[in-house]
Amino acid sequence: MTVGDGPGAFAAVILAAGKGTRMRSELPKVLHAVCGRPMVHHVAACAIQAGAEHVYPVVGHGAERVMAHVAERFPGAPVTTVVQEEQLGTGHAVLTCRPHLEGYEGSVLILSGDVPLVTPDLVAGLLAAHRAAGGGLTVLTVELADPTGYGRVLRDSVGEPAGIVEEKDATPAQRQVHEINAGIYVADGPLLFALLPKVSSGNAQGEYYLTDVVGLALAEGAPVHLYRWDDPEAVLGVNSRADLARVEAVMRRRVAAGLMAGGATLIDPERTYVDLGVTVGPDTVIHPGVTLQGATVIGAGCTLYPGVRITDSRVGDGATVKDGCLLTEARLDGDNSVGPNAHLRPGAHLMRGARVGNFVEVKAAVIGEGSKVNHLSYVGDAEVGAHVNIGAGTITCNYDGTHKHRTVIGDGAFIGSDTQLVAPVTVGPGAVVAAGSTITGDVPGGALAISRTAQRNVEGWVARWKAKKGPKAH
Ligand code: UD1
Ligand code: CA
Repeated sequence: MTVGDGPGAFAAVILAAGKGTRMRSELPKVLHAVCGRPMVHHVAACAIQAGAEHVYPVVGHGAERVMAHVAERFPGAPVTTVVQEEQLGTGHAVLTCRPHLEGYEGSVLILSGDVPLVTPDLVAGLLAAHRAAGGGLTVLTVELADPTGYGRVLRDSVGEPAGIVEEKDATPAQRQVHEINAGIYVADGPLLFALLPKVSSGNAQGEYYLTDVVGLALAEGAPVHLYRWDDPEAVLGVNSRADLARVEAVMRRRVAAGLMAGGATLIDPERTYVDLGVTVGPDTVIHPGVTLQGATVIGAGCTLYPGVRITDSRVGDGATVKDGCLLTEARLDGDNSVGPNAHLRPGAHLMRGARVGNFVEVKAAVIGEGSKVNHLSYVGDAEVGAHVNIGAGTITCNYDGTHKHRTVIGDGAFIGSDTQLVAPVTVGPGAVVAAGSTITGDVPGGALAISRTAQRNVEGWVARWKAKKGPKAH
């Protein structure tokens, strides 16, 4: 890239190469999820939404994994990952983008992959302030009640910027400063790449600090501005698991606010765990302890009771999912009732009005309109027609130890309790299977199938048995 397209053009650099030692994790820090998406994903999405003409995530630690995530998630977007082979510091990280940004005349926005709550609003405010001030270098700052761990912003006696000092390099007096560097900057491209090569690593951590460009710019008489943002939550950084939980709580609140604005009732928003991107229709009521993940879509007028987790599923209008259910890649067409304690596994598809009751597991099976599987059953690899009643304790024996086989049940059939359907098997429409049967062969439509040992009653047996056993027998 050479020249920015017009006065408002900007490129974004996302610092995402660090290991994140303080996370104590196998996973690169920026891949830790916040409301279901890796932190770096939130930051890249923000840069793209804010209108960056190009986005350069700098990757290093776990580069392949981070790259896969960024490339996968933003197909078609102007995103180019840049590899920082050795993580020598934030200043060095930005410098690795030089081959891409050398000669770029626009503004360069710098975001951190571990500051995931940034919004396009904040970016727009920063860019506008930078331009209004005449360019140079602008640092976003916030006032924190507890500034521990952050770089402190130093000002001179008249409040003009004087530099940034990392906590590890700060004097006790400097540590008293509550205005911190958020790790978000905008700089004129040529100025940035003129200053960066001058950054040295003579500090407590032996790193090339990006923050040192502030002092260097001031020393050269280049314009430096501080842009104070009034919402400290938006720039919380994640260095530890405790920070991650804090950030997750903020994002969770934002997601909950969005759902409520859309007409959903959240009985307790703080205890409702919904991934970014999940949609919920109006008049749906969500009880505490519900988790909605991935590409889940919940319709209107549904009720989700406590302890429900739904992942990558579609739940149609008017469905009720009772306490303690797990749904994964399932589909409910609407007006369904599920649970309590039901397990809908991938490929479970409940057509309109179908009901699945307590302790029922359904996998790769269609349950037809208005059909019921109300108690303690397993229905797998099956096609169940409309208005079928499947009695308690019915099992589709779909697996012979090597292969899976299908069970087909026609419309209006009645399957008595404690039936085993040994697949492959077909029960015709309107057929009745007697309770306690083991069905190994097809049942014609309208037929009764019964397969169980005939009952035998032995008259007077109990009295004879007691007499033999003596007075202790019950
Ligand atoms: C940094 C700032 C600090 C600021 C804080 C805000 C510096 C020197 N310090 O500190 O002033 O208050 O952010 O959250 O910049 N990274 C790379 N390559 C590297 C090193 C880091 O890409 O060689 C990435 C990390 O993955 C991370 C980001 O840069 O996403 C910030 O690095 P981190 O080590 O977390 O810096 P902080 O100590 O938080
Ligand atoms: Ca950090």
